[in-house]
Amino acid sequence: MNIDYKARRELLLTEIEADSVVILVGNTEKVRNKNITYNFRQDNDFYYLTGFAEPDAVAVLRPNSNQPFVLFNLPKDKAAEINFGHRCGQTMAAERYDCDAAYDIAELEQRLPELLGQRQHVYLSDELGRFEDRIFSWINQQRRGARFDETKVFRSLHSILPFIHERRIIKDDAELARIRQAVTASVDGHKTVMKQARAGINEQQLAGAFFGKVSEYGCQDVGYPTILASGNNACCLHYTENNDVLQDGQILLIDAGGDFQYYTADITRSFPVNGRFSDTQKAVYKVVLAALDNAIALVKPGTPWNHLYETAMATLAQGLIDLGILRCSMEEALEKELYKPYSIHKTGHWMGLDVHDVGRYKHHNEWKTLQANMVFTIEPGLYFPAHDNQVAPEFRGMGIRVEDDILVTADGHENLSAGAPRTVEEIEAWMAS
Ligand code: GLY
Ligand code: MN
Ligand code: MN
Repeated sequence: MNIDYKARRELLLTEIEADSVVILVGNTEKVRNKNITYNFRQDNDFYYLTGFAEPDAVAVLRPNSNQPFVLFNLPKDKAAEINFGHRCGQTMAAERYDCDAAYDIAELEQRLPELLGQRQHVYLSDELGRFEDRIFSWINQQRRGARFDETKVFRSLHSILPFIHERRIIKDDAELARIRQAVTASVDGHKTVMKQARAGINEQQLAGAFFGKVSEYGCQDVGYPTILASGNNACCLHYTENNDVLQDGQILLIDAGGDFQYYTADITRSFPVNGRFSDTQKAVYKVVLAALDNAIALVKPGTPWNHLYETAMATLAQGLIDLGILRCSMEEALEKELYKPYSIHKTGHWMGLDVHDVGRYKHHNEWKTLQANMVFTIEPGLYFPAHDNQVAPEFRGMGIRVEDDILVTADGHENLSAGAPRTVEEIEAWMAS
């Protein structure tokens, strides 16, 4: 399904002043070492509005003009293309990306003053400040060049990002198709890892197995570095060393998502290396899964975002009391947030082009309510580091998180990642099969 980038740009331009210019700055390549670069990834906001995925591009949008979308991009270059890959150049860009004009990026400086014209509002996407110096000099040209009686109104500079980011929270059908493919691939990736896990192999082998599997579905990357954490390693939330050897009796936590055509999944599963939960592991696992399920059950249009977190925390708190880890009443646990040493992160985030996708969670200081076509994770966890002598020894050196990807539908929700084994019974049966 094709994404209608033009419709996105047109919608965006309806939200800003008629005499505006929007300057969207694409990513440049980053050196890894010497003449080797990291895999290139276009800036997600730039991609969202153009679909153009080559480095060193700038898009200039101008509402109510005969050229609402002007692209500056790298020119064709035989030698560079033989060395580093295809460039579409200006002619093909104009044909494929619906731009009204395309120019060599080297001409940006010279052409921009004319594109700014008499427009008063400049909106910029330059989150990393790559163009800041140049932008100020372009804006100031108006001051220097204008006659005394013309300079009463100066150009103003704004960020376009809040306008883009609010739109990105609600996914359209083409985005949902890509997210579904990323999640389908990742579910199979998680099942593959569960099947291959056993004592004696290295975490990195399993991270490789995950990537191998999602590649079969067309994922060219993962949406974030895979977290493949055995035993105590899972107590580091973004553990990515992935270089320990799995041991019998440990829980393995894998947090991994394939990236399909710029959209990612974000799924976590935690399961026993040897395929059978011990009684303690099972008891903790069931608390975490109940927290997840109780939060998922609330998902429907109109539910305030914070209710998911509060429900998950209440479930974890009750679970910690039942496990004998918290010795207090439920009221006290909630009032004093006594669960927090073991539940060390929030329970979810928007998901899309970015794994922690953009867009606010509050509006005018009020939590947002869920709407159809939002996609987000819910991911409660409990963590008991090896050195924590506040808990009984059998809990120590274990982190359990379960994370699903949830789509809000017109009348409820769909758990997109439910296919990755998630109950104790499903996990043990899948690992034994
Ligand atoms: N994989 C990062 C997260 O779950 O937020
Ligand atoms: Mn997440
Ligand atoms: Mn995750």
